[in-house]
Amino acid sequence: MKILVSGATGYIGSHTVAELINAGFKVVAVDNLTNSSLESLKRVEKLFKCKIPFYRLDIRNKSALKKVFDKHSIEAVIHFAGLKSVNESILKPVEYYNNNLGGTFSLIEVMKEFNCKIFLFSSSASVYGNPQSIPIKENVPLSGSNPYSRSKIMIEQYLQDVFNTSDNYCLGILRYFNPIGAHKSGLIGEDPNDIPNNLIPFVSQVAIGKIKKLYIFGGDYETPDGTGIRDYIHVVDLAIGHIKALQVIMKKPQVLIANLGTGKGHSVLDVVKAFEKTSGRKIPFTIVDRRQGDIAISYADCNHANKVLNWKAKYKLDEMCEDAWRWQTLNPKGYN
Ligand code: NAD
Ligand code: UD1
Repeated sequence: MKILVSGATGYIGSHTVAELINAGFKVVAVDNLTNSSLESLKRVEKLFKCKIPFYRLDIRNKSALKKVFDKHSIEAVIHFAGLKSVNESILKPVEYYNNNLGGTFSLIEVMKEFNCKIFLFSSSASVYGNPQSIPIKENVPLSGSNPYSRSKIMIEQYLQDVFNTSDNYCLGILRYFNPIGAHKSGLIGEDPNDIPNNLIPFVSQVAIGKIKKLYIFGGDYETPDGTGIRDYIHVVDLAIGHIKALQVIMKKPQVLIANLGTGKGHSVLDVVKAFEKTSGRKIPFTIVDRRQGDIAISYADCNHANKVLNWKAKYKLDEMCEDAWRWQTLNPKGYN
C-alpha cells in the first residue's frame, strides 16, 4: 500500500516513515524543508537500505501535489506538515492559519480529485486547553488558547465535516501528548532549528554543554514537587500508533479520534533527574516564573486508543531520555 506522508522529513514524520517502511508500506515523502533537513530521510533510507521518493514542495501548492498524485497511486495520506510553535503562532497568526489550514485544505482537495479517501491527521493535546479533568478523555469539550491549538481544532472540525459527507471516507485524528526521544539507531531524532522551546531538547543541550542551564517555568504549581506535569511519549511509540491507526481506519469507513500518550504524568524535575541519570551529567537549573499559557497538569486517558488501536505505548521515561541522549551525543550538531 502506498502512503503519501506530508511533513515526512520532520521529527515525527521521519520516525513514522521509518515505522511504515518497517511494516512493509511504500512511502512517498513530501516536505518543503522549512523546518527540517532532507538528511533525516536519507538516514531512514540508510537504515532500511531502500529508496524513498521525495518531493520538495509546499503542500499549499495544489498543482505540485497533483503531479505527485498523478505519478504515484496514493492510497492514503498521513498529514504531519504544519507549523508547531505555540509562541510563534501568537506572533505570526496569519502565517500559522494560512499554513496549517491552507495546507490541509489543499491536501484534501487534491485527495478528493484523485478519489483517495484514507487520511490520518496530527492533532495535539493542546486542543484540550486547560482541561477540567485529568486524565484527559477524547470526548471532553475542546478549547484552544492560542492560534496553534485553535488551528488544530478548526482542522479537526473541517475534516469531520468533509468526511461526514460521504460514507466511504476513513479518517483518523490523533491527538499527541508530548513526543520525545529518538530512534534506537541514533540516526534520526529531533533537530530544533534554534534555541529549543520544548523541555527535552533544551535539557539535552544543557547536558551536552551547548546551553548553560535550564530555566524551569514555575515551581508553584499544585503538583507534588511544584513543577508542571506532562505525558511524555516516545516518538517511536507514537509512530507505531500511526501504523495501528492506519490499519484500523482502512478496514472500514469511520472517523476515529484517539489520544496518543502513555497515560502517565512526569514533572519537570522527574525529567531532569532521569536525564541526569542517563547522561551522567549534572543539569543546572533555576526555577523562574511560570511560562504564559502553560498549564499545571496534562496527561492522557489512553483507554480508547489502547482498545480501538490495540496499541499501548511501551517505553518508559528512562528509555525516552536514553534515546534522546544517544541521538544528542551521536549528532551534536543535529543533521548538519
Ligand atoms: P516538524 O516541524 O519537525 O515537522 C513538520 C514538517 O512539516 C517540517 O519538516 C516542515 O518543513 C514541514 N512543513 C511545514 N509546513 C509545510 C508546508 N506548507 N508544506 C510542506 N511541508 C511543510 O514537527 P513535528 O514535531 O514532526 O510535528 C509534526 C506534526 O505533529 C505537526 O502538525 C505538529 O503540529 C503535530 N504535533 C507535534 C507535537 C510535538 O510535540 N512535536 C505535538 C502535537 C502535535
Ligand atoms: C508545548 C506546547 C504544545 C505543543 C508541545 C509540543 C506550549 C504552551 N505548549 O507543550 O502546544 O503541542 O509543546 O510542541 O508551548 N519547561 C520548562 N523549561 C523549558 C521548557 C519547558 O520548565 O525550558 C516545562 C514547561 O513549563 C512544561 C514542561 O516543561 O511544564 C513541558 O514543556 P514543553 O516541552 O514546552 O511542552 P508543553 O508545554 O507541554
